Amino acid sequence: LFGFKTNRVSGYFEPIEPTKADQLVLPKNFKYDVIAAFDDVINPAGEKFGSGCDYNAFFPIKGSNVRGLLVNNHEYSTIFSIGPVKDGKMSADQIHKNLYYQGMSVIEVYRDEKGVWKMDTTSTHARRINGFTKFDITGPAKGIPALKGATTATGTFANCSGGVTLWNTVLSCEENFEETAAVSKLPDTHYGWVVEVDPFDKSFLKKHTALGRFNHENTAMGLAADGRIVVYMGDDKKDACVYKFISKNKYDKSKGRANSALLEEGTLYVANLKSGKWQPVTLEAVTKAIAEDKEAQAKFKSQGDVVTYCQEAARFVGGTPTDRPEDIEISPFDNTVFICHTNNDNHGNIHGHITRIFEAGNDLAAMEFDFEIFAAGGRQSGFSSPDNLAFDSNGDLWVVTDISSSSQNKGVHKPFMNNGLFVIPTSGPDQGAALQFASGPVESELTGPFFTPDEQTLFLSVQHPGENTEDLSKPSSTWPHRSGENMARCAVVAISGFKLES
Ligand code: FEO
Ligand code: CA
Ligand code: CA
Ligand code: CA
Repeated sequence: LFGFKTNRVSGYFEPIEPTKADQLVLPKNFKYDVIAAFDDVINPAGEKFGSGCDYNAFFPIKGSNVRGLLVNNHEYSTIFSIGPVKDGKMSADQIHKNLYYQGMSVIEVYRDEKGVWKMDTTSTHARRINGFTKFDITGPAKGIPALKGATTATGTFANCSGGVTLWNTVLSCEENFEETAAVSKLPDTHYGWVVEVDPFDKSFLKKHTALGRFNHENTAMGLAADGRIVVYMGDDKKDACVYKFISKNKYDKSKGRANSALLEEGTLYVANLKSGKWQPVTLEAVTKAIAEDKEAQAKFKSQGDVVTYCQEAARFVGGTPTDRPEDIEISPFDNTVFICHTNNDNHGNIHGHITRIFEAGNDLAAMEFDFEIFAAGGRQSGFSSPDNLAFDSNGDLWVVTDISSSSQNKGVHKPFMNNGLFVIPTSGPDQGAALQFASGPVESELTGPFFTPDEQTLFLSVQHPGENTEDLSKPSSTWPHRSGENMARCAVVAISGFKLES
C-alpha cells in the first residue's frame, strides 16, 4: 500500500479533471472501499447506519492504524431514507425515521489481510446515537427558564461536522436543526448545540451550552500558550459569525476525559473582522450594547440567555457577519486558523473563499488578530464553495466542496462539474494552488475527510448522492451501484493507495 505521507502532494498523485460521472473518481493508483452505507446493519442488535453521512473521526483500537472505531455524523434525511414527503407533510412513520436516521453512528472498522476496509458488525462498541438518545445539558443554559428548566435533552440531529478533543472524545455539531425540531414538535431550544460523545463509553453524552447555540458547523480545538483550551466554531448561515471559546481553566493531560469540564466554563468570543478583535459574547457586553433596547433587555437576563440566543447576542457585541463560515482547522505547523467561507449569494460571493487568521503572537487565546484571503474559489483556482477541511502532515489542506445540487453543472458552476476533494499546500512554492484529488457522484457532496494516524487511509463520506430525485423509480444517482439496486445510498469510504508502478 502506498500512503499519502510519502511525498509532497504534487509528487504523489496525478490530479484528476472535473467530471460529471456518477462515480467516486480518484487519481490513478488509489482505490476506495465502501465501509458502511445508509441502512446497513452496524451491530448485533441490528441497529442501522444513518442518513446524510458527514463528519468522520477515527479512534485506533490498541494503537492500530488498521482497526478502530469510526464515529460518523448523520446530517439529514433524503428521499432514499424516508421516501417522498407529500405536500411538505411528513407522516408519523417519516417523522420517526427522520429522527432515527439522523444523529451519529459509532462503528468498528478494520482493514483485512487483502487490504480491504470493512465494518465489523460483531462489534460491542458499535451503536447509534440519534433523535431519541438522551443527553445531559451542561453550562450556563442548563436549567434556565428559556429551556423550561431542562437539565437533559432528548435527541441530537442535523449533525454536520465536528472535531476531536484533546482527551479523545468527539464533538458533533447540530447545524440546521430547525426543520426536524419543528416537524417532530420538539422544543427547539434544545438543539443547535455542540454535543460531546465518548466512542468507547455509551453513557457519556453531553450538550455543552457554553459553546453557544447557533447553526453549528464544526469545532477546531487547540491549546493556548497558557494551557487553556480554545475551540473555534463556524455558524453556517448567510451573514453569520465566527466564534472561539476559551476555557476558564487549564488543560491537564493526566486528567484524561475529566478535561471535558473545560467545555462547561469559559468565555465565548465572536470575531470582529474590521477591528481585528475578538469580542466577548457575555451578559455584561450584551447588556452594555442593549442599554437603549427594552425589547432586547427582556430577552437577555442571564449568560444562559446569551448562549441560547447567541446569533443575536453576537451581533449586538460587534460580531462581523460573514459568508457562511463552514469548517475551521488550526494549522498544526504555525497556529494559523483556516476558515472556509463557503459562499453567500446575498452579495455575490458565489464561489466562496478560505480565510486565514493570524492570532497575535501566534497564541490561540489572543484577543487580536489579522487575516488574509488564503485562497479564493473560482475558475482560476478550480474549486467553488469550500466546506470541510483537514490537514495532513505535509502541511497540505484537504478541502471538499459543496456546490448545492441545484447549482451543480449549471451556469457559472459548469466548469467545476460534480463536487470534489482538493489538496492545497499551505506553504512553499505551491501555496494556495488547488489540485483535485476526488470527484463525487451525481448530486453528492464529499464530507468528513479524516486520516488514520499513519495517513495510509483517508476516510471520507459521500453525502446525498442523487438528492434531487423526485421519483424513486428514476433516481438521478445509483451510487454506490450495489447490484440489484436502483437507488443511491450515502456512505463512508476508506481511500488508500497502491504502490506506484515504477
Ligand atoms: Fe452541514 Fe454547513 O454544512
Ligand atoms: Ca458542511
Ligand atoms: Ca475538519
Ligand atoms: Ca455545506
